[in-house]
Amino acid sequence: MTMKPKNTSNANTMWGGRFAAGPDAIMEAINASIGFDQRMAAQDIAGSGAHAAMLAATGIITDKDAEAIGEGLLTILSEIEDGNFEFSTALEDIHMNVEARLKDLIGEPAGRLHTARSRNDQVALDFRMWVRGQTDAASEGLRALIGVLLAQAEAGADWVMPGFTHLQVAQPVTWGHHMMAYVEMFGRDMSRFEDARKRMNQSPLGAAALAGTSFPIDRHMTAQTLGFDAPAANSLDAVADRDFALEFLAASTICAMHLSRFAEELVIWSSAQFRFVALSDRFSTGSSIMPQKKNPDAAELIRAKIGRIMGAMVGLFTVMKGLPLAYSKDMQEDKEQVFDAADSLMLALAAMTGMVADMSANRAELEVAAATGFSTATDLADWLVRELGMPFRDAHHVTGTLVGMAEAKGCDLPELTLADMQSVHDAIHKGVFDVLGVHNSVASRTSYGGTAPDQVRIQIARWKEVLG
Ligand code: ARG
Repeated sequence: MTMKPKNTSNANTMWGGRFAAGPDAIMEAINASIGFDQRMAAQDIAGSGAHAAMLAATGIITDKDAEAIGEGLLTILSEIEDGNFEFSTALEDIHMNVEARLKDLIGEPAGRLHTARSRNDQVALDFRMWVRGQTDAASEGLRALIGVLLAQAEAGADWVMPGFTHLQVAQPVTWGHHMMAYVEMFGRDMSRFEDARKRMNQSPLGAAALAGTSFPIDRHMTAQTLGFDAPAANSLDAVADRDFALEFLAASTICAMHLSRFAEELVIWSSAQFRFVALSDRFSTGSSIMPQKKNPDAAELIRAKIGRIMGAMVGLFTVMKGLPLAYSKDMQEDKEQVFDAADSLMLALAAMTGMVADMSANRAELEVAAATGFSTATDLADWLVRELGMPFRDAHHVTGTLVGMAEAKGCDLPELTLADMQSVHDAIHKGVFDVLGVHNSVASRTSYGGTAPDQVRIQIARWKEVLG
């Protein structure tokens, strides 16, 4: 038996039963989300497919209707993928656009799909699956970036370069060690995304509008079909929660901050004043007026992307704060900024990966720079402690005097004569010159996690094993 309701007005056919008139054009404009939530079409269709199959398995709808729904959904998916789907603003969002098209295609059974479901659990599901996909994409992007950093570190495990604090030369370090510092940062980012994924992987589907449903649904079944670990345990929370998106944005912001720091170093390093690295033509641009220029635009853009990513995080926190349970339409404002942040992050990760893979370190330049700025002064002070038994504070003072002397003579520490040294402290002997060279300096820093090439190689091997 078919009971077809009469349509008595131009009100919305999905929810307009009690409405005498359709919405004002401005109401439609502020209400519609189809302009952006069509990006969740694949998730919406997968969710509906799982829901329909569950409704049939529990006897809530017939197998025949579920089959018609499943086939219709597949047709819609290919229409959308082929660009043959006409999205309608009057139908508000992706959920109603898909359902309306399903009705065109299969007729009455389409109306049974929304049994024991609401757009509130539907949108929570779709968005969660979309964010889950991006969380995986971020982990993969980070894995690729770590891979190219490891290759750089391996090639230059024993190349020397200046290490900086306050952007002033501090002590020599190895190129490999510097690259591996970023491996640690991006490794933590990866673990943050993996960790967030575990927490987000609960299915809101079946929470319905907010209170659950009186139909005998099987939420475990849909959760499993859609790759979730379990159904979310509280229906109010399930439709009201956007923590998964916030965690994604928080992890993205920290990652973007790391990308920004590295990008800044590449901008500095590729300048004519530093010449530590050459960026490839593929990741640089020219100037329309200055023919000699090769600009690190990709690095600069990566440095800047944190602006919109962190903006999205602050934006969504601001939307969510103070919202009472359960669903409020405010939450429709959750998507655009997450979409933009995800796009920005994936692009920044890909650009950084390409740039690092192509980048060539200027080994000779790094070596010269490593020895400037009295970078082995700490080695000298340590030698005075070790060899002459001086208290470190005294050794620091003697070394400072020697640095002052070198500065006055316009030379570096290894160029001071033994007589110069002995004029400051007569017990100094020629063995001191062994520690003033930058290679000896880095090779001596063998403490766990130190810059010695052997330590760097241990960390490279560990990371290779971690990544498999
Ligand atoms: N487009 C809506 C959103 O993005 C879907 C949920 C609408 N639910 C409702 N009760 N009006 O949040």
